[in-house]
Amino acid sequence: MKRKGIILAGGSGTRLWPLTDIACKQLLPVYDKPMIYYPLSTLMLGGIEEILIISTEKDIPSFRNLFGDGSHLGMSFEYAVQKEPKGIAEALLIGESFLNGAGCSLILGDNLFYGRLDFYRLGLEQEKGATIYGYPVKNPRDFGVVEFDSDFRVLAIEEKPAQPKSQYAIPGLYIYDEEVCARARSLSPSARGELEITDLNRSYLADDLLKCIPLGRGIAWLDTGTPASLLEASHYIATIENQQKYKIACIEEIALNQGFVTESEYGKLIESARNPDYRAYLEMVLADFLLG
Ligand code: DAU
Repeated sequence: MKRKGIILAGGSGTRLWPLTDIACKQLLPVYDKPMIYYPLSTLMLGGIEEILIISTEKDIPSFRNLFGDGSHLGMSFEYAVQKEPKGIAEALLIGESFLNGAGCSLILGDNLFYGRLDFYRLGLEQEKGATIYGYPVKNPRDFGVVEFDSDFRVLAIEEKPAQPKSQYAIPGLYIYDEEVCARARSLSPSARGELEITDLNRSYLADDLLKCIPLGRGIAWLDTGTPASLLEASHYIATIENQQKYKIACIEEIALNQGFVTESEYGKLIESARNPDYRAYLEMVLADFLLG
């Protein structure tokens, strides 16, 4: 099934203030790139070419400035405003006309994954229902939490439970079938006045249509919510990029390897790279690509 992608990149950015007075959280740097490059890369590596970015009225122009219509990457980008942070599941209402009946993958603009993304491609292969992931963490109270049976079938999901029934947090990466907008429309705001992503996932669970893939070692899921965790994420990316030959979340490289752009279109991306080191990297990628 061909799915479209939604990146939710709004919110109030309170925990990173005053940094978020300059730009919203998802535009802040994580080492050498704007944060949104990382979740965007995840969607691209899943083969998703049509993207909707949802953010605040103030920040949408910056995202538009960054990606334009996406055609240089062989992709299509659209933009929509979320007036107030009224919940993650509101992204599916805002994105309804963009989706136009298609299934989608929603990712939060501050969720960074690194490692083999087979788990994501596996989720995207599911035709029916919804797929979420379970990531073992030390502090499940801070997240949506999934409880499994011994066969990893979902028993329950809870948003930031005081007494978590498992150590598995639910990362901000979700895959939905084409029913998702209708299901989002039937949700009511929670006690805190938000359309909760956990309630949307529960609606699939109630119909036995929610699959959760547990993630193990070898996948990094990085948090960027506080100044300390933002710095740690930058260090993590820097450590790997300074050791290995490859960059993480280089969107031009991914566009080439996914076949979104031709070699000559990629040549234009190289020409437009203003940073000599970045340009040299893109050239190295092309040389590797041509070698097969
Ligand atoms: O990161 C994964 C977690 O994300 C999940 O485990 C939770 O189930 C999910 O509720 C969410 O928890 P957070 O505490 O991280 O949610 P937060 O309200 O901080 O929003 C996450 C991101 O989405 C943040 O970058 C801001 C953006 N956002 C959030 C809301 C509620 C929006 O753009 N609009 C919104 O209305």
